Amino acid sequence: MDRIYIFDTTLRDGEQSPGASMSIEQKYEVAVQLARLGVDAIEAGFPISSPEQFKGCRMISQKVKGPIITALARCLEEDLEAACESIRDAERQRIHTFIATSPIHMQHKLKKEPDEVIEMAERAVKYARKRVPEVEFSPEDATRSEIAFLCRILERVIKAGATIINIPDTVGYSIPEEFGSFIKALKEGVPNIDKAVISVHCHNDLGVAVANSLAAVQNGARQVEVTLNGIGERAGNASLEEFVMALSVRKDLFPYSTGIKTRLIYNSSRLLSNIIGMPIPRNKPIVGENAFAHEAGIHQDGIIKHRATYEIMTPESVGRDASTLVMGRHSGLRGFNKRLNELGLILSDKEIKGAYQRFLNIADKKKEVFDDDLFIIVSEELGNQAETYMLDYFNFQSGNMAVPTATVRIKSGDQYYEEASTGDGPVDAVFNAIDRAIGIKSTLKEYSLQAVTPGRKAIGEVSVNIQIGEKSFIGRGASTDILEASARAYLNAINRYKAVIKG
Ligand code: KIV
Ligand code: ZN
Repeated sequence: MDRIYIFDTTLRDGEQSPGASMSIEQKYEVAVQLARLGVDAIEAGFPISSPEQFKGCRMISQKVKGPIITALARCLEEDLEAACESIRDAERQRIHTFIATSPIHMQHKLKKEPDEVIEMAERAVKYARKRVPEVEFSPEDATRSEIAFLCRILERVIKAGATIINIPDTVGYSIPEEFGSFIKALKEGVPNIDKAVISVHCHNDLGVAVANSLAAVQNGARQVEVTLNGIGERAGNASLEEFVMALSVRKDLFPYSTGIKTRLIYNSSRLLSNIIGMPIPRNKPIVGENAFAHEAGIHQDGIIKHRATYEIMTPESVGRDASTLVMGRHSGLRGFNKRLNELGLILSDKEIKGAYQRFLNIADKKKEVFDDDLFIIVSEELGNQAETYMLDYFNFQSGNMAVPTATVRIKSGDQYYEEASTGDGPVDAVFNAIDRAIGIKSTLKEYSLQAVTPGRKAIGEVSVNIQIGEKSFIGRGASTDILEASARAYLNAINRYKAVIKG
């Protein structure tokens, strides 16, 4: 069976979209999960764009084994240099370089003649190929480029050493039949195309990114670029879970294999959603809450008689096993760790101990701990490993006739900072007390609270977006006490600010 290579760009195209930014540690956490999931390549970032991006690529290159690690670069020497340097320690390295080829981009954005663009592309590929064994070239806005020009530039970059030719539908403009024919025309029109793998990268502006990717595969593409949960610029990129399951369910039309362990899809999707604080829509294919729910009587009857009447794939095939109730406060460390492993969450001994302690605290307060709670517990534990400030203690007084007053004690290394403050409401009082304790002033831009699991004793998860100076920082915190969750979320955002200013 032919192999389709899965190139994951959750950490680059996905992460650059609004609301999806991640700290370096969080990117690493996702990268580890992507490697377990079985992607062939991880695009770790765009190193020239910021020191954080560079460090993220470097950390992933040093620590994540298995997939090819790739970094993005424009066709400029400083970009290529930063990209090569950032992935220097990767077990398997690839540089992904791009330049726009459509008339509208060349004229208005690059302000360059087509021949200059070809020269820049050729030079970039040659430069990268001297440093790394694999070079991917993307003609940005390919689907609005002239096909004859595309054939010309692609022939030149392949000659210069490009090993993968990626065709992006940058603005999500193409539709499936047209995109399939486009790939076929390039396959026929570029004389040396057999020396490179054809890849595609589709955006979802018209809701057809996965359909376009499938059409491309039917016409010769053998690498497809995707993101978990379909996150990405604007309406997002082709979603990994949808694309992979389309190949798997419709093997009759797509006789291809991938390296993806489909049973890890659901947990990978939830891990990302928890990390970036972006909920998965209920009706999202494969991973949404309703994707395997049967409400109508006729459907339920059919499912009871024979599941295949209304299910084209089993929930188990994507890791959505029926049981979600896990454990309570009598569950031991071994059982706890076993359940984490079943969920695809593999932690170091130190992390397991920390997460187990959090689990016991939560299990003390609520009788039943669900899988979703475990995801929160683990992402809190992993996120807190590198924290500068930790909530040691808090107390709060309020009432309909009293001024809300909060006291907090914050631990930082061996130091403790304690302060009290009033506020317009309970959350304001807690945040003011934290500001006074650590001497940082921020502006709260967004605050949201949601119950992670059902019932009155659910864990509440708070997300905040704060502004300090010019920059915004997202923080998340969870607890059965929503004020404690708020304090944790606020400190989490401040810790990210500290991580950035520490450089
Ligand atoms: O959408 C796009 O064109 C891109 C390229 C950098 C591949 O993300
Ligand atoms: Zn893109």
